[in-house]
Amino acid sequence: MKVPFLDLRVTDPAQRKELLQAVETVMDHGRIILGPEVQRLENKIGKRVGCQFTSGVNSGTDALVLALRAIGIGHGDEVITTPLSFVATANAITVNGATPVFADILDDLTLDPESIEPLINEKTRAILPVHWAGKACQMDSILAVAKKHSLKVIEDCSQAFGALTHERHVGSMGDIGCFSMNSMKSLASLGEAGMITTNDKELWEKVDILRYHGLKNREVCHFVSHNGRLDTVQAAFIEKRLDRYEDLLARRRDTAQFYHDALAGLVHTPKDHPHCRDVFYTYTIQTKKRDELKLYMEEHGIESKIQHIPLMPDQPVYKGKTINNSNNARKLVQNVLCIPANEKVSDEQREYVAMTIKNFFKQS
Ligand SMILES: Cc1ncc(COP(=O)(O)O)c(C=O)c1O
Repeated sequence: MKVPFLDLRVTDPAQRKELLQAVETVMDHGRIILGPEVQRLENKIGKRVGCQFTSGVNSGTDALVLALRAIGIGHGDEVITTPLSFVATANAITVNGATPVFADILDDLTLDPESIEPLINEKTRAILPVHWAGKACQMDSILAVAKKHSLKVIEDCSQAFGALTHERHVGSMGDIGCFSMNSMKSLASLGEAGMITTNDKELWEKVDILRYHGLKNREVCHFVSHNGRLDTVQAAFIEKRLDRYEDLLARRRDTAQFYHDALAGLVHTPKDHPHCRDVFYTYTIQTKKRDELKLYMEEHGIESKIQHIPLMPDQPVYKGKTINNSNNARKLVQNVLCIPANEKVSDEQREYVAMTIKNFFKQS
């Protein structure tokens, strides 16, 4: 049996029809960028996340770049973040002229709140936690550190639409939330897309200007920025997926529970914390035999991924150039492996994945 890590084809005939209809509607009204579907999506996302203000942008990277810029992060500033993320997180800080400083992670792979404070100095302006693999960070502790030192908090929610902690949605707890909605994400477009969420009207107004070249009234440039607007067609696709999102999450969570039960005692499994809802963007197991297991799964037709090596502080572009405090991350990243767990993975496929992992440990 073959089990791909992710299958981006739209194979369901009803979904295909619905998406094609959405494109036709956009072609009919002709408001191709920031059209009515964008505004509708912004409103719906705001309601789901619990934020009054939202801005559709053209990627998760842009959401981060524009959010940091709107807050006023720039040359000479430091932003403390996790070492474990897709490099977009650090790059968004750097392209604004600031320096990423890498703290450490907990055993659940999210930012360790206790690793932040030793890195704070007079240049520190903000903390940028990443809700990694669909698991909400320990936001109360992170927000307490931010408050104590008057720092802004930018949440990278790229992997975590729908994740909750104590009934609060990610992206509603810091000053500003940033979501990726590219085609690999659980709340996906058919290409590139992103969203910014905030309850701060002034910040939102700034983002609105920054997402189109710093122009006011589309003509007069007040700030240097770029074009980061969201396509109407992408918003229309995301809106359709949003309508099915709870069913999709239920399936992901069911597969996660299946793996928790099947793999208990063999590998470290990414269980939910009490009072939290993980969305399992990836199902990341941890085992010291990671490399051998990955190879064995590959030989048995199962695709898996290591997300992400090198760690951001060890990427050639950052290594030796920024401060880090990332010892636990360096240890854990040797053990992580993401196995197929998205909503398209069938019952037969997940049983085959679990059986293959069990067989690996039996024979090794
Ligand atoms: C944690 C994290 N931050 C930022 C991004 C960047 O998002 P995008 O690819 O939409 O630019 C990603 C995308 O994979 C991500 O996983």
